[in-house]
Amino acid sequence: MKLKKDSTEQKLRGAYYTPQQLATDMVRLFETDDIKSVLEPSCGDGVFLDALSEARLLGKIHSIEAVEIEEDEAKKVRGRYDNAPQVRVFNEDFFDFYKEQLGKKTYDLVLGNPPYIRYQYLQEKQRECQAQILKSHGMKSNKLINAWVAFMVACIQLLSEKGKIAFVIPAEILQVAYAEDLRLYLADNLAKITLITFEQLVFPDIEQEVVVFIGEKGNEEKGIRIIEMKDLSGFDTLNLNSNGFQPMQHVREKWTKYFISKKELDLIQKLKSDNRFSEFSDYGLINIGITT
Ligand SMILES: C[S@@+](CC[C@H](N)C(=O)[O-])C[C@H]1O[C@@H](n2cnc3c(N)ncnc32)[C@H](O)[C@@H]1O
Repeated sequence: MKLKKDSTEQKLRGAYYTPQQLATDMVRLFETDDIKSVLEPSCGDGVFLDALSEARLLGKIHSIEAVEIEEDEAKKVRGRYDNAPQVRVFNEDFFDFYKEQLGKKTYDLVLGNPPYIRYQYLQEKQRECQAQILKSHGMKSNKLINAWVAFMVACIQLLSEKGKIAFVIPAEILQVAYAEDLRLYLADNLAKITLITFEQLVFPDIEQEVVVFIGEKGNEEKGIRIIEMKDLSGFDTLNLNSNGFQPMQHVREKWTKYFISKKELDLIQKLKSDNRFSEFSDYGLINIGITT
């Protein structure tokens, strides 16, 4: 078993940075939106700020706030944006930043790639903050929940009325049991959800399957859709306003069902309720075996 003391510094702060191309492609999706304020809750070496700069959006946005727990990284990013007064870099724990901002400030766009840190690797104070964020929004807190889950919930709380969130998160959001409450929370708090999946690994150095999650707030619920891509090359043609949304089911169930069309889903529901069929569990005990 690998102990906390033997883990690398990179793993302890969940520091796997987003490839520049992915950050640039994500930012481009919001190029024509009227965005006044942006938050990057865990900016690392500032790849999303660089993407905003590259897309010439820095001048259009009134306030860009970036948070980073690691002092050296925060300094580096601050130094790079010294002459951009609308950019502010905070060297602090995002959980503290969230507590300070909640109820005072909201953001039109939250962008980033939150840290993937296991509960065991969090400091005691962070565990308490994480539990508090989850519980105060009707979710359970337990030792299986990774830090990115609390980051997501906190960031959605900081969105403006029609705010949007674009996060790179582990593909496990689609089906793991520890994200059950999160799936329900997202369906209840967002009007539109787009998930972009990739056939090929997007992070070349780690075996982590990721998805790009785009959540949009609004008064009218539009639903959820999954867009499957081979690699990053399909991003150019992506239009967030195009259709293909399925009605969102406000349940904790896995989201893998949204990979199929509404028509296919309806057929499955029909077969499930047809009493000419019976369930495997009527004949035997079914369990998942050991997974690698
Ligand atoms: C997955 S990296 C992503 C960095 C950058 N957003 C990117 O996309 O390349 C996560 C970052 O979160 C930072 N981090 C970890 N825990 C944090 C916390 N509690 N508050 C703020 N930043 C944190 C890490 O130091 C790391 O730089």
